[in-house]
Amino acid sequence: PADAVRDAEGVVRIGGCPVTELAARFGTPLYVLDEDGVRAAARRTRTAFAAAAERHGVSARVYYAGKAFLSAEVVRWVTDEGLAVDVATGGELAVALAAGIDPARIGFHGNNKSVREIAHAVETGVGTIVIDSPIEIERIAQVAAAHGMRQRVLIRVNSGVHAETHDFLATAHEDQKFGFTLTGAVAAAARIREVAALELVGLHCHIGSQIFGTAGFAESASRIVALYSDLLSGGELEVVNLGGGFGIAYTSADTPTPIEQLADGIVDAVAAECAARGVRMPNLAFEPGRAIVGRAGVTLYEVGTTKPVALESGVTRLYVSVDGGMSDNARPALYGAQYSARVVSRATAAGSTLARVVGKHCEAGDIVVDAEYLPADIAAGDILAVPATGAYCFSLSNNYNFVPRPPVVAVRDGAARVIVRGETVDDLLARDAGIAPTEGTV
Ligand code: LLP
Repeated sequence: PADAVRDAEGVVRIGGCPVTELAARFGTPLYVLDEDGVRAAARRTRTAFAAAAERHGVSARVYYAGKAFLSAEVVRWVTDEGLAVDVATGGELAVALAAGIDPARIGFHGNNKSVREIAHAVETGVGTIVIDSPIEIERIAQVAAAHGMRQRVLIRVNSGVHAETHDFLATAHEDQKFGFTLTGAVAAAARIREVAALELVGLHCHIGSQIFGTAGFAESASRIVALYSDLLSGGELEVVNLGGGFGIAYTSADTPTPIEQLADGIVDAVAAECAARGVRMPNLAFEPGRAIVGRAGVTLYEVGTTKPVALESGVTRLYVSVDGGMSDNARPALYGAQYSARVVSRATAAGSTLARVVGKHCEAGDIVVDAEYLPADIAAGDILAVPATGAYCFSLSNNYNFVPRPPVVAVRDGAARVIVRGETVDDLLARDAGIAPTEGTV
C-alpha cells in the first residue's frame, strides 16, 4: 500500500500501527483505513480541481461519492478537508446526515428515489437533488410543493460517451439506465423551469469508473457544455457537475493519470467549449469516490490452508486460502478486478512461488488475488495484506455463506480505533424470524 512501510526490522506499519498487532487485536479479516491517506487524497483532489477552475475564474466543488465507502467518520474526514458528499440512496443520506454535516453540502442521486427518500431529502434541506427521469421531475416537484419548499435540482445527462475501464468509445445511443439523453435534457429543463417548486441549477453527467485517461472526460465535458450553452437562453445555470470515475492503481501494472493532469485536461475542455460558444464558464463540480478512499484501505487476512495444484501446463499453482473472500471483496468476482498481496507477518517475505489467494466461500470464483508471487513456505497463521481495498470493498460487502462482515479500523499516528464494528453470527441470526434469540455466539 502507498502508506505501508516496512522498517529496518522488517515490521510493516500502516498509519504508524504494526499490521500484525492490528490483526492480533482486532482479528482477521480486517479492513484497515489510513485516515491520513483519505484526508490527503481528499485535499489533493480538491486542490487540483480548485486550481484548474480558478485559472478560468470559476469555482470547483468536489463531492465525495459515498458509495465507495461510507461511514460517519469518513464523512467527517472528507468534509473537514473541504469536500461535499454525494449520496445515492436514502440509506447513504441517513449516514451523511447522522455524521452531522451541513445538509446543504449533500447531493442526492439515484435513478429510482422513492417518495419517502425524496421527502427526507427535501425536508432536511439537502443541497441538490439530481433528477434522473421525467417522472422524477413531477415526483420531486410534488414533494417540494407539499413542503412549501423550492428544491435545487440538476439534470443527469447521458453524454453518450461510454467509458469502459481504461478506454472509451463514443456511442450515440447508450443502452443504460441513467439520465436523460442530450435532447431529452432540453425538454426536461423546459419542464423544470415551468415548475415553481423546482430551481434548475445545473447539469450533471458521469461517464463511468476507474478511467485512466483524460480524453473521455474531456469529450463528455464538451458535449455537456454545448448543452449548457443551449440551455442558457432559457435562464441561468450555475453549475456543471462532471461526475467522478478517476482511476487508481490497484497493482503496479496500473498507471492512472495524476489527478492534477486530469483536472487541467477536463477543465480546459470546458473552457475551450465555452470560448467556442461565446458563453461564460459555469462553476464546476466533481464526484470522485474511489480516488479518495481506494488507496487508503488495506485488508488483512490470515492464511488458513495452502495447497499446491499441478496444472496440465506443468506449472504448479499454490492455492492460498484466507479467512475472508468474496463477502468482503466482491470485486474480483464481479469485475475480474486485480489486486496484489504480500505476507506482512515475517521480516523477509520475498515472493518466489506463483500463488492464487482465494477465500473461504463455496464458489470457484471466490478469488482475492488471481496471481501473485508469495514466499514458498507461506503457511497457516501468516498474515496477508491486500492493498488498495478502500473503495467498493466494504460498501459491496455481503453475508454470502453467512460470513459476518469484518470491522473497519481507522489508523493514524500509531493509534487504531474501530470506526465500523464487525458483525457476529448472532447479528445474522437475529434477522431469521425462525430462530429464537440465543445467548451464545458461534
Ligand atoms: N458519481 C456517480 C453518479 C456515480 O455513479 C459514481 C459511481 C461516482 C460518482 C463515483 O465513481 P468513482 O469516482 O468512485 O469511480 N462498484 C464498482 C464501481 C461502481 C461505481 C458506480 N458509480 C467498482 O467496484 O469498481
